[in-house]
Amino acid sequence: MLRISEPGIGEEFRPPAPRPQDRRLGLLSLLATLRRNPLECWSAEYFREPIARVRLPFTTAHLVHDPAAIRHVLVDNAGNYRKDPIQRRILATGLGDGLLSVEGERWDVQRRTLAPLFARRTVASFTASMLAAADRLAERWRTLGAESTVDMVAEMTLITLNVLALTIFSDGIARDYDEFRTAMNGYFAVIGRIGALDLLGVPPSVPRPGQGRLRRTMAYFEGIIEEIIEARRTRLASQPSGDGPSDLLTLLLRALDPSTGRAMSFAEVRSNILTFLSAGHETTANTLAWSIFLLSQSADWRARVREEAERELDGPVEGLADRLAVTRAVVEETLRLYPPIAALSRMAERADTLGDVEVKARSLIVIAPYVLHRHRALWERPDVFDPSRFLPEARGAIPRYTYLPFGTGPRTCIGAAFALQEATIVLAVLTRRFDIALLPDVKVWPLQRITLRPSDGLPMRVTSRGRGR
Ligand code: HEM
Repeated sequence: MLRISEPGIGEEFRPPAPRPQDRRLGLLSLLATLRRNPLECWSAEYFREPIARVRLPFTTAHLVHDPAAIRHVLVDNAGNYRKDPIQRRILATGLGDGLLSVEGERWDVQRRTLAPLFARRTVASFTASMLAAADRLAERWRTLGAESTVDMVAEMTLITLNVLALTIFSDGIARDYDEFRTAMNGYFAVIGRIGALDLLGVPPSVPRPGQGRLRRTMAYFEGIIEEIIEARRTRLASQPSGDGPSDLLTLLLRALDPSTGRAMSFAEVRSNILTFLSAGHETTANTLAWSIFLLSQSADWRARVREEAERELDGPVEGLADRLAVTRAVVEETLRLYPPIAALSRMAERADTLGDVEVKARSLIVIAPYVLHRHRALWERPDVFDPSRFLPEARGAIPRYTYLPFGTGPRTCIGAAFALQEATIVLAVLTRRFDIALLPDVKVWPLQRITLRPSDGLPMRVTSRGRGR
């Protein structure tokens, strides 16, 4: 494992990442490495080749990192490439009726209905809530005492949950917040657990160990969410249509399919609330934690973010995220180096061709943003931290389909603008108000679980730089 020390002026910083395997792994070591850390499975060949084929016991996988082929799979012929059964099984728990999991006509209707909730203007209207959550965290850190140590991953998980709670349920959750958070943490700790039985394709009807406890944990949190929705629904029913708290829950309960005028069912509203909480918290939390770590290793970019934050944060709330161009470039470079969703997978429904590669029906397609973003043929100095790639004057030169932290095509992340805005604002506020340093001799290593996160958290020392946002 790498021990970090800050690079000197002019030195290039290569953030910690596994060295690609010299050769492809054999089946047994592939399985063992997948279990330990899937990020360590990739061999050097995949970072050079546009498309590589891997034979697995029951299927063939195509690892696709060629921009034209990616466009074919995720955009032009997306109808032929569905989310694969393993992904669906992970998602089916609890989130089954939500946008992330539904397919076909149901997905079409939901995506149309939900689009306005994440439109640019709606997301911009959440700026004040995002600032409020960042300020609240900063206040807590300020009272911790000089040179306190925090686990940055846990802190960022907390703030992203707070931002979601404020933007989904702006008027509160009608019960003790700590109880809500504990129930929510329990829920997310169990829903994504994927066992060996799933990887081997054992049908869902076969009982899994610990399933009873898992179901109870889920049912408890789902019950809380149902209570909150029911209370809001009753309240909105008694108010004229323009009234009511302006948050995602009101928007969701009032959302209508533009083609049919139909509202969502109770189960769909519930599943989508759970989906937003689930898809939106760990992804954004890890983006923020990695950004803070990367800035802690680069005095130059830290100074640039701080200078921008000092200039812009006291200005008008309107358009704030757009004015934080340097901070946003740091966030985007973080998403390049450590994409929270490190790999996407699809299954071909019918046979197809990708360039001159034949794809059989039912074969697996893997598009790994982690590999794509460090591909030798697509990026210069791919392993070097250099946010200037994403500054406004340079960003337009990045070819399409080479940078996909949010996926692309019809199933692209609906929350991308929300997440980018949140991460940019929170990073600016915290960098302005605190000196944040990694503890000496800490091991930092990326681990791929459901998202890509630091393997042992990020113990960091925070020191207040005085008052003000
Ligand atoms: C940095 C933060 C985030 C990252 C990196 C991220 C990444 C992604 C990716 C890669 C996908 C596409 C998966 C695929 O094609 O298989 C996706 C889908 C999705 N994301 Fe995000 N996401 C983030 C934040 C959010 C937030 C904040 C929300 C909502 C509040 C959200 C809601 C969703 C939903 C609902 C989908 C499914 C869209 C569909 O299938 O139509 N995400 N996300």
